[in-house]
Amino acid sequence: MSSSKKLILVIGATGAQGRAVIDALLAPTSEGSTSPYSVRALTRNVNSSSAKEIAAIPGAEVFQGSFTDFGSVYRALEGCYGAYVNTDGFTEGEQGEIFAGLRIFELAKQIGTLKHFVWSNLDYIGKITGYNPKYRAEHYDGKGRVLEFIKGQRSETNGMVWSSLTTGPYMEMLSFPLFGPIHDPQTDSYIFAAPIGQGHVPMIALKDLGYFSRYIFDHRDEFSARDLEVTSDIVSWSRLAETFAKVTGKRARFIDVPIEGWLQLLKDTDKPLANKFYDSGSSEHTTWAQNFTRWWNLYHDDVIKRDLEAIKKIHPGLRSVESWMVETKYDGSFKNLLKNTEEGKGATFNPDAVPGVLAQLRSL
Ligand SMILES: NC(=O)c1ccc[n+]([C@@H]2O[C@H](COP(=O)([O-])OP(=O)(O)OC[C@H]3O[C@@H](n4cnc5c(N)ncnc54)[C@H](OP(=O)(O)O)[C@@H]3O)[C@@H](O)[C@H]2O)c1
Repeated sequence: MSSSKKLILVIGATGAQGRAVIDALLAPTSEGSTSPYSVRALTRNVNSSSAKEIAAIPGAEVFQGSFTDFGSVYRALEGCYGAYVNTDGFTEGEQGEIFAGLRIFELAKQIGTLKHFVWSNLDYIGKITGYNPKYRAEHYDGKGRVLEFIKGQRSETNGMVWSSLTTGPYMEMLSFPLFGPIHDPQTDSYIFAAPIGQGHVPMIALKDLGYFSRYIFDHRDEFSARDLEVTSDIVSWSRLAETFAKVTGKRARFIDVPIEGWLQLLKDTDKPLANKFYDSGSSEHTTWAQNFTRWWNLYHDDVIKRDLEAIKKIHPGLRSVESWMVETKYDGSFKNLLKNTEEGKGATFNPDAVPGVLAQLRSL
């Protein structure tokens, strides 16, 4: 690998987000020159198919380690110009993610040669809502608290600059039952069933997320000590169903289901949210169902805000849900997106529940 490139350590590299960031970092510049960056992908398993795919990309290398094994994080940071850090709250849980985030930042600073630390963030819902338990989504608050710590640290243009990128649900989750429709064979129509009422989800298409991550690395001084809050489109479920019908020519509608109806579409929602505690029978862990009930509450009540006009100034080519559906030839079918889902971790689709859910929906 050419030493003239700026080497970026990506944590969470083999995941859906990390891969989008890697592709954006290695893409040619807008003038058509080769990328100024190379990438080091941290992974616990260099033999997974996603790790092998990354290892085969020119300009990328994989590095065996875990973000909770701080010795391996330190070694991975050596020789790097920057770091893009997306810890995984679904694996480590809220408490583990917070300590890891803090410690990774400290090590990045300690190493003395890193120039740009970028934290991948989610909105700190507790702080926004006065710690209202109705909205307590643990995988958001874990990351949000780490950003509060980082905000208290120096960002030095002649040393290490820190920046943050606050994202949100991937638009690609439309190909997962989290957001995607179920097909009703009786009426040959697609039902977008979610407990969202008149609320909205600011979704981010992964290619747009990649664009913003690259933009931050390309504009280090401008983003010193700054958090960039992004979205691609702020989507209501009635517009989602209308857009799907327009783009695909299929019949579609939105049904505002109670949370219990939505949860039936998934398996294992009574398990702990964090994979690390998955086999634990202990009731001290928040379950997937508890966490995602609160998560839907925050979108139902439009807790999260974004400034679309300001975001479009940075990325004029921002995708709308309509342009994303056209670009990806979206047809409402389900595909595995997340590495965790591929590995059978977390709540997964429960096809057996569909006939029962459809019967309930038809009666609404
Ligand atoms: N789903 C969404 O819509 C969404 C949107 C915004 C943010 N997020 C956040 O993104 C994070 C998950 O990333 P993802 O969406 O890309 O999910 P994903 O596709 O399931 O990937 C999970 C990633 O986490 C890595 N990982 C987990 N534990 C690790 C450890 N101890 N050390 C090193 N790497 C570890 C995995 O790497 P290896 O298995 O290769 O080690 C993999 O790269 C979560 O914190 C989630 O809250 C998700």
